[in-house]
Amino acid sequence: MASVWVPAVLTVVLLLLGGSYSSTGGPWCYNEAHCGPNTWLSIGHCGGKRQSPINILSHDSILNSKLGAVNLTGYEDRKKLLEIKNTGKTVDVELEDGLSLSGHGLPSSYTAKSFHLHWGDGVSKPGSEHTIDSKRYSMELHIVHTKNNMNVSDAVKDPEGIAVLGFFLEGSEKAKSKGKTAEAWEEFIKNLHKVSEKDKDEDLTSTISLLDLLGTTNLTSYYRYLGSLTTPQCNEAVIWTIFTDPILVPPKVVEAFPSELRSSDSSSGPPIKNNFRPLQKIGDRKVERSAGLGSAASFLSQSATLLLFLSITSLAASFPV
Ligand SMILES: *[C@@H]1O[C@H](CO)[C@@H](O)[C@H](O)[C@H]1NC(C)=O
Ligand SMILES: *[C@@H]1O[C@H](CO)[C@@H](O)[C@H](O)[C@H]1NC(C)=O
Ligand SMILES: *[C@@H]1O[C@H](CO)[C@@H](O)[C@H](O)[C@H]1NC(C)=O
Ligand SMILES: [Zn+2]
Repeated sequence: MASVWVPAVLTVVLLLLGGSYSSTGGPWCYNEAHCGPNTWLSIGHCGGKRQSPINILSHDSILNSKLGAVNLTGYEDRKKLLEIKNTGKTVDVELEDGLSLSGHGLPSSYTAKSFHLHWGDGVSKPGSEHTIDSKRYSMELHIVHTKNNMNVSDAVKDPEGIAVLGFFLEGSEKAKSKGKTAEAWEEFIKNLHKVSEKDKDEDLTSTISLLDLLGTTNLTSYYRYLGSLTTPQCNEAVIWTIFTDPILVPPKVVEAFPSELRSSDSSSGPPIKNNFRPLQKIGDRKVERSAGLGSAASFLSQSATLLLFLSITSLAASFPV
């Protein structure tokens, strides 16, 4: 009897342990083989068919001319950034209620709850999660909203419960250090050292609004598709909106994240870096593009113009004058 019971009891205990690990978020990570993205498949929904991020192929996208500018309300309010926290995986900013998102293709009004970022390792090692025609940008900002202001634990159970706005950040010398957007990001990164270790949080008394951080990004040019959270449990609950117009920031902003933030509770712990999930299969999903990205005809006319240019150049080359 005992010889049967011992393995049976052990199995049950191990199953329970395994279960509690994944339901509490699990010991997942980005940069170590034993807990990195390849091991996430067994956690939550991470092995599903509607996962994020993806590489967006502009030529495979479908124009939806009804997708106009997204309607952002309250984003200009400079008192909405409440608290900043180092989660050990990213830096997360909690937002006060009152910021709302609506627009075509969103079945309801969505309330912004928080924002966080993904990055690589400075300007030379980009770390956006989504890529467009395989281009990866320096960083990616995610503003997380829930449908009708549900709490996140309820929202992840609804296939359209969460709307994330994704904005690329590009470290560039062109971002004039006196520009308003650059100033807002420089102000924002001053908070990072206060939460340099994992689990540290700090109230923000900031005078920056989300709109200050977005700058002049064109809100009419974006891709839209259905996907998931990009971290375990990878819930398939997200309507993604990925803006194509990157926010240009000074290179020092991009450098600040991996250099100021630690992934453990020790000030000498490993930096948070390369915290982006690898690209997921698009499967049979469709990616829509907004009116601001133009019609197939404009793609066609661009290629026609190029062809014309090429033939004129080769004509010129064959008849030297
Ligand atoms: C934008 O959203 C606000 C708040 O939900 C709403 O009052 C307003 O009518 C919307 N504007 C447009 C153009 O949809
Ligand atoms: C989320 O909201 C639901 C419904 O209002 C409530 O029952 C639940 O306890 C809330 N969960 C959390 C974690 O606050
Ligand atoms: C955004 O892009 C669209 C399409 O290219 C353009 O018509 C519009 O003027 C731009 N808006 C701003 C605010 O730059
Ligand atoms: Zn994210």
